[in-house]
Amino acid sequence: MSQFDVVVIGAGPGGYVAAIRAAQLGFKTACIDAGVNKAGDAPALGGTCLNVGCIPSKALLQSSEHFHAAQHDFAEHGITVGNVQFDAAKMIERKDAIVTKLTGGIKFLFQKNKVTSLFGTASFVGKNGDFWQLEVDDKGAKTTVEGKHIIVATGSTPRALPLVDIDNVNVLDNEGALNLTQVPAKLGVIGAGVIGLEMGSVWKRVGAEVTILEASSVFLGAADQQIAKEAFKYFTREQGLNIQLGVKLNKITSGSKVVVEYNNAKGEAQTAEFDKLIVAIGRVPNTHGLNAEAVGLQKDERGFIVVDGECRTNLPNVWAIGDVVRGPMLAHKASDEGVAVAERIAGQKPHLDFNTIPWVIYTDPEIAWVGKTEEQLKAEGVDYKKGTSGFAANGRALGLGKAKGTVKILADAKTDRILGVHMIGPMVSELISEGVVGMEFCASSEDIARIVHAHPTLSEVVHEAALAADKRALHG
Ligand code: FAD
Ligand code: NAI
Repeated sequence: MSQFDVVVIGAGPGGYVAAIRAAQLGFKTACIDAGVNKAGDAPALGGTCLNVGCIPSKALLQSSEHFHAAQHDFAEHGITVGNVQFDAAKMIERKDAIVTKLTGGIKFLFQKNKVTSLFGTASFVGKNGDFWQLEVDDKGAKTTVEGKHIIVATGSTPRALPLVDIDNVNVLDNEGALNLTQVPAKLGVIGAGVIGLEMGSVWKRVGAEVTILEASSVFLGAADQQIAKEAFKYFTREQGLNIQLGVKLNKITSGSKVVVEYNNAKGEAQTAEFDKLIVAIGRVPNTHGLNAEAVGLQKDERGFIVVDGECRTNLPNVWAIGDVVRGPMLAHKASDEGVAVAERIAGQKPHLDFNTIPWVIYTDPEIAWVGKTEEQLKAEGVDYKKGTSGFAANGRALGLGKAKGTVKILADAKTDRILGVHMIGPMVSELISEGVVGMEFCASSEDIARIVHAHPTLSEVVHEAALAADKRALHG
């Protein structure tokens, strides 16, 4: 039997980072993970994010963007490329190579940091003195591992739609949506959330006719609605995504085609037929296989492991981080919680500010935000001011051929402290960091306005929005 100071369950961006940090802090650390590669014949570290989430989706977004640009944008640069062809299988091959490289990278990092990597499904058994006992099941071969501290980082899985089963042939979850080797002529997507928009964009750009059916009557309800409305206009009018809001699904039949019967926002009965259907209606915490009940590990009514602000569960020295606990289901949130927990175990006092976790949606244009939306500030009765600026006249954006979008800075009306930054536009996934740093340092919009921003850069739009918050925009 092996004993460790810290045992991490799950090697996603929460778990693997927690394990590395714990080992760096001098703890004898093991990380147990049950993930397998796409072929299902070898362990694959990295969890949802690296295998079937963040990384593969961004690879496909890039490939599809290149294809679209070659078809539609190159000509105005004076570049003629003739008859542009698209090979979906090749795109998937490239994506798989990136996944393999990165998941292999974690194996290397574990070796470098002396983290013991164990393959199998871990479940709680009980306690042996100060140690928690876990059973690790590798296809029936069972071993026992003991840890003084346990960090549960078992992630999340797609939320099921009761109307239809996922077969990843015709009806797909995120895994199937990332592995189509032929472009479906007609693609349906249930859910206009982050996955629906990113995956819908990929397959639309390479030629599919895409219809997204969304239950909510509000588009991107978590985003600032000025930005969401602008995004809706680009996605529907310019890019041709058919996004229907306020729908109610009635029946889904999967055969040679997938037939979806639903009521539209006006309550009218509709039938749509698709070659493939992606279901992306959110994700649920994954505690399957943990045997949490045996040790009384507390979960809430939605299945999340209950933790306090520092990721402590109801059990002594058992911690939980990432998608399996409250808060946004984002890789960087999971990783930062992992680092913080490892440091807490070492007696340090790390701090993670949940108000400054950035969100990014990797559509074109990209959407990014941090902090409060205007709707939230209004609901909370906060007296705020705002400054907005657009990419339309930004020299760098024009050079890139991506001169559309807006940056909005929301600041407290009296103190000028930045309360939220909202963006839609080119590379705002990178620009949002300025907002995050600013908010972490309690910056005012004047602070951003007084910082020299390089010219010509996209960041000048952030600068201009900060100037606008003080009603002194130079180019607006
Ligand atoms: P996970 O990454 O889910 O990892 C959990 C690991 O635990 C898995 O390897 C699993 O096999 C293992 N496990 C579970 N139970 C056990 C057990 N009992 N024993 C052993 N091992 C177990 N987030 C972003 O921030 N940016 C993005 O661009 C982004 N894109 C995404 C795109 C898609 C299509 C999807 C689906 C998600 C995306 N996310 C993105 C979300 C991101 O993937 C998750 O927030 C992140 O992976 C959560 O990390 P985690 O470590 O908590 O869990
Ligand atoms: P989501 O929560 O973003 O969106 C789900 C959408 O489905 C919502 O708009 C919801 O109203 C809708 N919906 C729910 N039930 C429905 C029904 N019965 N019929 C029609 N619509 C319905 O969830 P999604 O897209 O599945 O992604 C899961 C999570 O993964 C995200 O919330 C995010 O945390 C993470 N993610 C992050 C990404 C990023 O950071 N760029 C990319 C992709 C995923």
